[in-house]
Amino acid sequence: MLLEASAVTKQFGGFRAVSDASISIDEGEIVGLIGPNGAGKSTMFNCLSGDLPPTSGRIVYDGRDVTRASPEAHARLGIGRTFQVPVTFEDMTILENVMVGAFLRHAGRNAAHAAAMDILEMTGLAPIRDRPARSLGTPGRKRLEIARVLATRPRLLLLDEALAGLNANEIASAIQLVRAIHARGITLIVVEHVMEVIMSLAQRVLVFNQGRVIASGAARDVVQDAEVIRAYLGQTQWIAAAPAAAVP
Ligand SMILES: Nc1ncnc2c1ncn2[C@@H]1O[C@H](COP(=O)(O)OP(=O)(O)OP(=O)(O)O)[C@@H](O)[C@H]1O
Ligand SMILES: [Mg+2]
Repeated sequence: MLLEASAVTKQFGGFRAVSDASISIDEGEIVGLIGPNGAGKSTMFNCLSGDLPPTSGRIVYDGRDVTRASPEAHARLGIGRTFQVPVTFEDMTILENVMVGAFLRHAGRNAAHAAAMDILEMTGLAPIRDRPARSLGTPGRKRLEIARVLATRPRLLLLDEALAGLNANEIASAIQLVRAIHARGITLIVVEHVMEVIMSLAQRVLVFNQGRVIASGAARDVVQDAEVIRAYLGQTQWIAAAPAAAVP
């Protein structure tokens, strides 16, 4: 088991954004995390990445209790996450943004530069590396966010809607990128509303609703689950596509 979160609760005042949620992930998996807006997916990520301490519960990563460890400690241990709203240094170049990530593992500028270049090649950003980050549109920004985190050399990568706002072609290319990341041996938890992305990437899916895990299992079984359809999938166009996609 690479990561095990047990009975995690995150309370904001009297409101439980995450409520007694238990999830676990094995090394090498790609797990999809889905659920309606406000279900607590990003809050769960915040707990898993150390950005917000859980109110209660326990999170063990690679045999260590990281429940109350700092975001920096999480990054150093190999838990990387993208933010739903990308965090970019607007006036810095794309290369410099990725180097910020690489400095987590490399003290020297040359080594950080080399590590960043490797990631820029992998993510397809190398040809435009000297442009300022502010020149990027949504797809480029999403890619840069992934690149910056990859440069921290995560072993577990939490992607929070890293493919949102992309068109069909951009989604296809982003799916390829996620596959390439996985092929490098990185374990992934992917939050996405685009079911096509979840169905094509995730080996296993967890469904959140009102802070709780309401279903988990193979993607094709979860999309047929009555409670999941009621809580989430019923609100999307996905339902029309489900029978065809569910054929093995
Ligand atoms: N810092 C905060 N303070 C108070 N309430 C918060 C805070 N962060 C999140 N919430 C609330 O917790 C609930 C869960 O939010 P969260 O962002 O985790 O949902 P989500 O599943 O990621 O939704 P989406 O799909 O829209 O991104 C929401 O009702 C949200 O308003
Ligand atoms: Mg969210």
